[in-house]
Amino acid sequence: MEFSASFTLDQGRRPCDQTKEESRLHYDFDRPISREGTGSIKWDGRLARFGAADVIPLWVADMDFPAPQPVLDALAERIRHGVFGYTKTGEDYQQAVISWQMRRHKFAPRPEWLCHSPGVVAGLSLMVSAFTRPGDGVIIQPPVYHQFKAVLTALGRQTVFNPLQYDGERYTMDFADLEEKARSAKLLFLCNPHNPIGQVWSREELTRLGEICIRHGVLVIADEVHADLVLGDVPHVPFASISEEFANHSVTCVSPSKTFNLAGMQTAVAIIPDARLRQDYDRWLHDYHLWGMNPLAVTALVAAYNHGEEWLDQLLAYLKQNVDLACSFIQNEIPEITVRPPDATYLMWLDCRPLAMEGDALERFFVQEAGLGLDGGHQFGPGGSGFLRLNAAMPKSTLLAALEKMEHAIRYRPTSRMHAPRLDG
Ligand SMILES: Cc1ncc(COP(=O)(O)O)c(C=O)c1O
Repeated sequence: MEFSASFTLDQGRRPCDQTKEESRLHYDFDRPISREGTGSIKWDGRLARFGAADVIPLWVADMDFPAPQPVLDALAERIRHGVFGYTKTGEDYQQAVISWQMRRHKFAPRPEWLCHSPGVVAGLSLMVSAFTRPGDGVIIQPPVYHQFKAVLTALGRQTVFNPLQYDGERYTMDFADLEEKARSAKLLFLCNPHNPIGQVWSREELTRLGEICIRHGVLVIADEVHADLVLGDVPHVPFASISEEFANHSVTCVSPSKTFNLAGMQTAVAIIPDARLRQDYDRWLHDYHLWGMNPLAVTALVAAYNHGEEWLDQLLAYLKQNVDLACSFIQNEIPEITVRPPDATYLMWLDCRPLAMEGDALERFFVQEAGLGLDGGHQFGPGGSGFLRLNAAMPKSTLLAALEKMEHAIRYRPTSRMHAPRLDG
């Protein structure tokens, strides 16, 4: 179902409609760029996170690529203006967000539904504060983005697990368990597409989930920050686009941060169709004085959504090559690990259970024996131990170097029987 926006949008805009200058751009994702010394958590945070400053970082979910040229140009122009006072958003911001959702996802939020969120996770915290009370239950579906639980724990809410089921190939939702858990919960954090498993949820799965939540009065917070990064053939379905009822029983979190590698800009959009929920959310946003916008973030968001499409299409092709490269390398060279290409995201979910290393032992093994900084799956909650999350958004040469180190460490690990080097020549 689509909802009509109240002003005209350039929803028909396609790459072929872009200006001549834009359409000439060819992006070189192969070029390594040093991020060291920029305050990058992924790079400059390696020592603190892994106890080693020289691991190849395959953790934090951002990319080692510069943002689209039109974004850099718009930022340069905004900086040339030179005045960065208190900033609010206008119609150009609303139009950029709505037009993007319509073009890419056939979802048409109304302008008044858009609320500022100083990052998706900060928005989740505000929503938990606004829509629940301490002690209330909030459902999450592990293995899932670890900050979901962190937010709930910090705010004294009860985390209710509705674990995903894994058949060795794909994950499915456990609807019978959800029906049970929904009886006593207030909210559900939906990860759509799902980090770390990289799956896009189908319309049927989302519909079943939504029907259960509505039946039990559970509000769905749909975190759709990875929605623009679909690599396979299965399209992303925005939860709120399924029906007007679903829209009114949900909040959708979107952001240009993952899509255009703008995570440090700390800006996101909470799409809240229900007027009362919106009022409650806005009250918390104002009480914490978080309503102000960073002028550079606004400029970046508008430029990205209006002019970043050509870059994104080239990026998606590059990411697809990277995940395919990693999958075939692992299939051919590391039989101990199973992986399938993600439907969406540049995050790869490696099933390392045959290595028999649980919890953080797996992560430590790759730091010490391979010089790689990966996220251990145990961080993502029940069902994650024995897995690793690998971020593949980097130049191919770096990815290949990391995969070779991974293969070498496993082949020559002390307990390896299958691949131990023959000492007798
Ligand atoms: C599902 C999900 N939500 C939110 C975030 C972070 O969003 P933000 O940086 O806007 O808080 C991430 C980052 O990895 C994520 O994977």
